[in-house]
Amino acid sequence: MKTEYDFFIIDRDHLKGKRTFPFQLYVFNPIHKKYSMFLNGNRPMTRELETFMDFMLERGGKIAILKKQRRTFLTAQEFHESEIPSLATRELHELEKERIMNLKLKEMYDEKNGAFSFQSEFEKACETDNFEKIIEFARVEIITFSVTQSQTVSLALEMAKKYLDKDTFVNRIVATSYLFAKTCNINDQAALADIVCGAFLLHLGYTQLPLSMVRTPTMSLFDKDKKLFEKHTILGNHLIKKSGIEISERAKKIILDHHERVLGNGYPSMKYSESIEQLSLIVGSITHLFEYSSGKINGTKTPMKSIIISMKNKTFTPGLELDFGEKVFSSLVTLINTDKIEEKKAA
Ligand SMILES: [Fe+2]
Repeated sequence: MKTEYDFFIIDRDHLKGKRTFPFQLYVFNPIHKKYSMFLNGNRPMTRELETFMDFMLERGGKIAILKKQRRTFLTAQEFHESEIPSLATRELHELEKERIMNLKLKEMYDEKNGAFSFQSEFEKACETDNFEKIIEFARVEIITFSVTQSQTVSLALEMAKKYLDKDTFVNRIVATSYLFAKTCNINDQAALADIVCGAFLLHLGYTQLPLSMVRTPTMSLFDKDKKLFEKHTILGNHLIKKSGIEISERAKKIILDHHERVLGNGYPSMKYSESIEQLSLIVGSITHLFEYSSGKINGTKTPMKSIIISMKNKTFTPGLELDFGEKVFSSLVTLINTDKIEEKKAA
């Protein structure tokens, strides 16, 4: 995986109107924040390619060259490195150095462990009641997040580095929400950071409630206590605001809205359908799965597989919620391959 540290940026004029180059040209896409190969070495720059390059530059794209081809570029284009601003030496910040190291660690981790299948690892984790591998995989990825993008991305990275290192209830929710979001095609780092921060902080409001209330299964709470318990969303959001922590509005919404459901039967605002952000539904659904499985909802521990089968079959089960919107729901019921289980039962 190539990152911004592998490239230096050049201007259009640095190509000097030539049509072939002994080095590779990459382009930086500002929307996806990714570098991709544009023109291989010694291949002709056609008119179509040139038009496309200009189109991209007008929209904030950049031309990039691999740092390892620096010498080839300078010689072929007859430049001294002092003439290329991005080659001016800059001392990297400690966090940037650490990120480079974490990117290398991630490469080594992937080489050592091979392809990671979230669905099969999730199934194994549920069967063995051990989420260490899922948590470790999420951590190794999250600590490679950008250190210069935003406060929320940096906070996600810092929290993963400090806390995402053991198999705890909160870490199960954080790591699973993060990996589940990716299966819902959320790959933008800012959105993933919102998921991580939201999942870490969503029960901050519990600190303002009596411990006995937090520990009582929600279905066993008296109505008056239930109303107070439901305030944990508002209290958490309030604490974040009071603390002055700078996190994105979307991450705050996850804390506030993780119990909102698309049919309007959630809390605290009984939001309906599309007025609930998809990220809140993602974290809300994963939290609900773990809470239901642990007995936090109805007082009885339930295997994750049984929950997913009940969800998939839309079997009425007291306390089990299904209203996470079609997109999230359809991904949720594939978290474990239940067809295999049901085939076994039928046999
Ligand atoms: Fe909650």
